[in-house]
Amino acid sequence: MLLDVRDLHVEFHTRDGVARAVNGVSYHVDAGETLAVLGESGSGKSVTAQAVMGILDTPPGRITGGEVLFEGRDLLTLKREERRRVRGAEMAMIFQDALSSLNPVLTVGDQLGEMFVVHRGMSRKDARAEAVELMDRVRIPAARERVGQYPHQFSGGMRQRIMIAMALALRPKLIIADEPTTALDVTVQAQVMDLLAELRREYHMGLILITHDLGVVADVADRIAVMYAGRIVESAPVLDLYKAPAHPYTRGLLDSIPRLDHKGRELYAIKGLPPGLTRIPPGCAFHPRCPAARDECRTDEPALYEVTGPEGAAAGRGSACHFWRECLHG
Ligand SMILES: Nc1ncnc2c1ncn2[C@@H]1O[C@H](COP(=O)(O)OP(=O)(O)OP(=O)(O)O)[C@@H](O)[C@H]1O
Ligand code: SF4
Ligand SMILES: [Mg+2]
Repeated sequence: MLLDVRDLHVEFHTRDGVARAVNGVSYHVDAGETLAVLGESGSGKSVTAQAVMGILDTPPGRITGGEVLFEGRDLLTLKREERRRVRGAEMAMIFQDALSSLNPVLTVGDQLGEMFVVHRGMSRKDARAEAVELMDRVRIPAARERVGQYPHQFSGGMRQRIMIAMALALRPKLIIADEPTTALDVTVQAQVMDLLAELRREYHMGLILITHDLGVVADVADRIAVMYAGRIVESAPVLDLYKAPAHPYTRGLLDSIPRLDHKGRELYAIKGLPPGLTRIPPGCAFHPRCPAARDECRTDEPALYEVTGPEGAAAGRGSACHFWRECLHG
């Protein structure tokens, strides 16, 4: 197993009290596999990723428990310097907003080349040649001519390709892409997503794809982890989850995406809002919004139950709902 996150807890100390942003998240990714992490805004997707990458702002954030095993080694126990070495070389991250992640006063060639100068001790000239090759690799047309241009001279889609090139430079084993296409228009989104999927296959990397768009997930991901209020509420192979969700929250998400085969039908919307993280409801955190909630949901916190039986038979399915059987068969 490439990455194995176990029972991760992250808190933020805020004026309103302690915001429990991540409350016991466990997920894993194998080499060559894509895990999609899905959930509404504020559910803890990015904070989990930042803790894994070792780029969490501390303070105000604090990791209060858990393990981040990368090829069996707990990254949370590493010294700063060792951690920095893992980052970039072994795992890299792609962010939503390329323009603010790239340096506006350096050419893209210098920024890409920097990776090879710093980490591989290459000469400037060799590093530039590598930069051109990387730009070719992520299909930026006329790479040789454009290597000396600045980020603002590229379109949004091309900038995101440059971000992908930066992440790939040192051939990491794991890439975490946090809403990599959200800022792009729909056709460009699809192209960038295809490129990412292709590179993942070619380099046999693990990929964690953070998104709140269930639509893009089906084509590229192997498994999904659905987050709600800092917890994983359902995890399953993508197709199984699409066929029959085992958690009412997932069902609500699926029912709220437009589908061709449901044309004309009114779109469902999950009622209410996610809870504030300083005041997560007792019992099942989803109960105030759940159409299937009953008394025990208000008091008993559901564990991530193993989903079994003929319909849910796929290995490694989990649901944090007391009544997952009903949901699965409903
Ligand atoms: N720097 C911070 N200071 C205080 N609280 C923070 C900070 N960063 C995150 N949080 C808390 O952690 C929660 C989860 O944030 P996170 O960014 O992981 O959400 P997300 O699932 O990535 O949402 P989005 O889809 O909007 O990106 C936030 O709602 C906020 O309460
Ligand atoms: S445990 Fe209860 S409130 Fe939570 S999702 Fe299941 S039915 Fe709904
Ligand atoms: Mg986020």
